[in-house]
Amino acid sequence: MSNIVIFGSQWGDEGKGKIVDLLTRDVDLIARFQGGNNAGHTLVVAGKKFILHLIPSGILHKNKICLIGNGVVVDPEVLCKEMATLAGEGLDVGPTRLQVSKKAHLIMPYHRLMDGARESARCKDSKIGTTGRGIGPCYEDKMHRVGIRAGDLQDLGLLRAKIETALTEKNVLFQHLYNTDPLDPGQIFDQVAPLADKLLPHLVDVSQVLQDAWDKDKSVLFEGAQGTHLDIDHGTYPFVTSSNTVVGNAAAGTGCSPSRMDRIVAIVKAYTTRVGAGPFPTELDNNEGAHMQEKGAEFGATTGRQRRCGWLDLAVLRESVRLNGPTELVVTKLDVLSGLKELKICVAYEYQGQEVGYPPQEENAMDRVTPVYETMPGWDQDISDCTSWVSLPSEAKDYIKRVEKMLGVPVSMVSVGPDREQILHR
Ligand code: GDP
Ligand code: IMO
Ligand code: MG
Repeated sequence: MSNIVIFGSQWGDEGKGKIVDLLTRDVDLIARFQGGNNAGHTLVVAGKKFILHLIPSGILHKNKICLIGNGVVVDPEVLCKEMATLAGEGLDVGPTRLQVSKKAHLIMPYHRLMDGARESARCKDSKIGTTGRGIGPCYEDKMHRVGIRAGDLQDLGLLRAKIETALTEKNVLFQHLYNTDPLDPGQIFDQVAPLADKLLPHLVDVSQVLQDAWDKDKSVLFEGAQGTHLDIDHGTYPFVTSSNTVVGNAAAGTGCSPSRMDRIVAIVKAYTTRVGAGPFPTELDNNEGAHMQEKGAEFGATTGRQRRCGWLDLAVLRESVRLNGPTELVVTKLDVLSGLKELKICVAYEYQGQEVGYPPQEENAMDRVTPVYETMPGWDQDISDCTSWVSLPSEAKDYIKRVEKMLGVPVSMVSVGPDREQILHR
């Protein structure tokens, strides 16, 4: 049985959720390993849409076990709400099916407030455009070693003491830097502690659960969130999220060996989008960009913000290949390109008088690159009802083959619509 890792190769929203849902058929467990409810993974099954922020996208399949690893930051209020919503849809989200690492850090109300205060305090050009979910401040506390972990819910005395410690420093910032009211540790405790009863039955040692599963020859799918170019180290820093989104973190973020990863699947949107601020060399501010935005319904699944759109960028993808070593590519949203007369692919950048194949490493250098484009003919036909690779227009096949050739990684599937069934196998 092979284990699969799925990751986003661009700036997020590549369609990971749909492909996780699809490949869940082939595995027994699905594990998130980083990020939190900044993610918005959309699944469409028989016309019905589900958006998951924290719970792994395998949850729609009965009998599959969903794990939230230690590398994820968990907002307990959001988790309880998401569980209630899915339960309302008749899905089983009981402790057998949904298990959370005791070591996962909890997003506390003050992390959300700090996220908002920091963004408000930044001047216009340096705003990151975070999702406002408290992700960065929670990871900061983890690194600062004052974080609160899911396992702390087992000892409410400890929880209370840790909230007090965390707020000692934060209240100084809230009051004297951000000019907001200080927070009362007692009130925060009263807000969070009642959730313990609901969450305690779900808490496990995810590393051990994985080991036990592998001892029984079961297989696991690791579900990445965000995208490689939002990675805290390798992305377009500082316009990034606060976790490592690269597949190397699938091991650290769940507690297993990297040698477990067999099949590494890069999700590649057929064009590029970005939500939030930061450099975007192939961004389009014209009719073609508007075509992608409208036809692709490019609105953030978490914040509802309009996504910025642009041509496919192979420099970005080449780096994703180098960082993650995918064994295959899945290209999504090819249907969105139908109707564009010509398609451009950015094959390199001009940077400081030279042609470069990878994003330059200096901070904000991506703001100063000029894309070098190759142009390919487009196609007119609606391909959303195509059911096989051979039935695609030749121009669409050529576009995919070009990407495959330039990246040196095979394309195993092409998605031509949001529904689970709208997928073409090579
Ligand atoms: P994720 O965060 O990577 O899971 O992606 P999102 O769910 O945020 O955004 C992808 C959007 O595209 C969702 O609305 C999906 O339903 C939709 N989608 C996924 N694959 C396709 C596709 O092949 N064609 C079209 N038109 N939409 C797709
Ligand atoms: P999925 O998993 C797209 C972006 C935010 C912002 C930056 C930092 O659905 O692909 P954060 O709240 O994480 O501190 O925000 O990262 N961002 C995403 N963009 N898809 C996502 O997740 C994202 N998660 C965070 O818009 O620019
Ligand atoms: Mg998304």
